[in-house]
Amino acid sequence: MDLDVEALRDAVIDVALRGGEMLRQRFGSASRVRTKSSRYDLVTEADEAIEAELTAYVRRQFPDHAVVGEEDVSRRVLSGQAASRQGAVAQAAEGREWEWLIDPIDGTTNFIHGLPIVATSVAVMYRDEVLAGAVFNPMQDELFVAVRRHGATLNGRPLRVSTEEVLAESLLATGFQYDAVEGRRLNVELFRVVLNEARNVRAIGSAALSLCYVGAGRLSGFWELRLGPWDLAAGALVVREAGGRLSRLDGSPFDIWQPSVVATNGRIHDQLVALLRQASAGA
Ligand code: IPD
Ligand code: CA
Ligand code: CA
Ligand code: CA
Repeated sequence: MDLDVEALRDAVIDVALRGGEMLRQRFGSASRVRTKSSRYDLVTEADEAIEAELTAYVRRQFPDHAVVGEEDVSRRVLSGQAASRQGAVAQAAEGREWEWLIDPIDGTTNFIHGLPIVATSVAVMYRDEVLAGAVFNPMQDELFVAVRRHGATLNGRPLRVSTEEVLAESLLATGFQYDAVEGRRLNVELFRVVLNEARNVRAIGSAALSLCYVGAGRLSGFWELRLGPWDLAAGALVVREAGGRLSRLDGSPFDIWQPSVVATNGRIHDQLVALLRQASAGA
């Protein structure tokens, strides 16, 4: 490895702040809004400009690192250059040991509507392990950072997950995927079932920030059915380093390359997974 802990932390922070600054400048004036895989799956000039800038920036500093960005992966799939999203990610990763995952704007729909729940999410991996991640919401000046085995922070202050023990006292969140209407319908059913048991359920429109809010103890848990590695990598490390627990929807081990996630304070994890499994089976 050619980077120590401090260098890794500084590098992810630097890239996330740079992206967030560009996002802040463009907030309130989304331009060139287009659709990708479905009518819900949107991209703007800002998503592309921020990703292009961050990709070039990382490559200048680390010429032997690969950069995997959401919009680059989408372009490879939409142009037919890659047959699937996994194929496109593998193309972009070029088999390199060091890999950056970049989501230039997590919360594009919020960005388009002027809802200030938006973030730039950046993670760096070595041999398939996420070592550091940063999620920056420039509209609220909140910078979440996690470094593997070195904890998670919000604007420099250490983070810890919440302490709720039961769903009845838990504030949860989910997200509704952009790609297919069937997946959204299934999650409406899961939402309904979980809402009956929990204190309340939110859908804030940014998976990366939802994960960070679990790490910060603002949410007791979060689940979503279909996310990409750029949505998950940094936020999941924040959850883990803040003492939380992660799995896939069926309770099996969490993996950023698999689409589903359940992230909690740990104490309610088994209850939430059991409920989601039961609701999925009945849907
Ligand atoms: C989306 C957001 C949203 C989630 C979607 C993601 P994007 O990312 O995280 O909250 O529900 O599944 O695709 O497209 O805004 O970067
Ligand atoms: Ca997107
Ligand atoms: Ca995203
Ligand atoms: Ca995005």
